[in-house]
Amino acid sequence: MEGLREIGYALSGCTHDFLNFVVFEGEKVEVNNFYFIMHPYLPDTPVLVRVFRVQPYNPEMEMGRTGPLAGKKRRRADYGKKLEYVVGFAEILGYYDKNGKWRTMEVAPSPWDPIYEPSEESLRKFLLREKFVEDALIIEIGKVRGTKIPVYLDLNAIAKAHMFVAGMTRSGKSSFIINLVANSSKIQPKPRFLIFDRRGEYGALTKYGAKVLPYNLFTPSLTDPELIVSKLELKSREKDAVLSAIRSLIEEGKELTREAIYERVEMIIGNFLKTDTAQNKALDSIKWRLDTLGEFIDKSKEPLNIIEEIKKNWALILDFSVDTDIEAQHRTANYILSQICQYAMERKTEGDFALIIAIEESQYFCPEKGVEIAESPAQSEVRKTFIETISQAGGYNVGLIVMTQRPAYCSKSVISQCNSVACFRLKSGNDQAAIMNYTEYGSERLSEYLPGLADHEAMLWGMAIPTPFPIIAEIEVSEYPQKAVVFAKQAWEKM
Ligand SMILES: Nc1ncnc2c1ncn2[C@@H]1O[C@H](COP(=O)(O)OP(=O)(O)OP(=O)(O)O)[C@@H](O)[C@H]1O
Ligand SMILES: [Mg+2]
Repeated sequence: MEGLREIGYALSGCTHDFLNFVVFEGEKVEVNNFYFIMHPYLPDTPVLVRVFRVQPYNPEMEMGRTGPLAGKKRRRADYGKKLEYVVGFAEILGYYDKNGKWRTMEVAPSPWDPIYEPSEESLRKFLLREKFVEDALIIEIGKVRGTKIPVYLDLNAIAKAHMFVAGMTRSGKSSFIINLVANSSKIQPKPRFLIFDRRGEYGALTKYGAKVLPYNLFTPSLTDPELIVSKLELKSREKDAVLSAIRSLIEEGKELTREAIYERVEMIIGNFLKTDTAQNKALDSIKWRLDTLGEFIDKSKEPLNIIEEIKKNWALILDFSVDTDIEAQHRTANYILSQICQYAMERKTEGDFALIIAIEESQYFCPEKGVEIAESPAQSEVRKTFIETISQAGGYNVGLIVMTQRPAYCSKSVISQCNSVACFRLKSGNDQAAIMNYTEYGSERLSEYLPGLADHEAMLWGMAIPTPFPIIAEIEVSEYPQKAVVFAKQAWEKM
């Protein structure tokens, strides 16, 4: 093909999706590089391949040959140098036919077929192909690794069909979302975001007009008697007394304030404890416990309306790092997701509501069954709502960005609903398997790329990216997560 440099020849053993080739002396072939081969049957049709492994061979250095023997004697058997060669292993991604339709390869390359190095120009034609529909809302997030070719995401596709963002700690997930939201502030129409910020890291976004609110402003009142009592952490008799007090208040349709509960307990404590001393002791402890729980059961403090806040703020960040009350966090997440879902459904015909919800450490809200931190009623409720939301809300333009360090611990029903994926560095086989098995990448090569990704590099695939095959992007980062925590060194200095 004109203007393209040959860099190697195909070896035998190729298949329709696998190419191995010997590299010409002096050529620098690296993992993740793109190359072309010519379609064996279609004239002038380049087929895109990507290297996933490079392996040098020297027959003299094989076991049983003279090389290892010389090496043992601290000598080099350089006479074998001439016999050395490098083999590249590549996946055959596919090609655009003469009608511009993307196809995967149907035949295998033959031995001696040349491998070409693409010019950036010819590569651009493959990686920037106009696959996006007319009304896509695209945003640049970085460059194809090793090139100047931009990588775009379609926010429409995320709102419609969700995105899964995975990667080990410090690989770049939060930075990716922060910069995605920051860049979104510059486009028209301005998209809407809600972020479940588990660690209080998204403060940098206030510069762009985002609003940070503590999650507990949205916490609905506790209504389940068992839950209220479990939060009070009382001894058994005291617990029975409070439970019975709450149940009778509910039966009579009375409001569940801590004063009402306490008064009722005072009335019935005699049924549970005989002596005055025991009763007084129990009442003291119940009063103290109720005080600590005050705001959660006080009906007069209505939670903020999440829909109103979303309408007022184009990017709303819910800070979950303000406390460690797991039950309240689950209850609030559940409440918020249900409210949004219900509202989005109501606005369907008007078509005036769309939202992208990014959820940090999703495995905490929708863990795979059997790996929960604490199986509580609130936990199973939020998981249920999460799964319902992700399976229905896309139809109403509410898209989730499900983020996690540990895909293996995340509900499979949730992962499999995410059409697009951004996968940062991932080394554990279990986590890679969760992604390979539950998203539609359809290649066993994934595990060759994922462990080697640097910070802020992600493999992307699905509806939200323009290419019909996965690409590795270098995410452009100008804002970083700001953790409120101090380093141990500073803490020790203070101590
Ligand atoms: N304030 C900063 N300045 C410079 N580099 C930073 C800053 N904060 C983070 N980084 C870099 O960004 C990388 C990605 O961090 P980020 O917090 O986005 O990862 P993450 O995938 O969200 O991790 P985690 O799972 O722990 O939340 C880190 O490895 C670090 O090198
Ligand atoms: Mg993070």
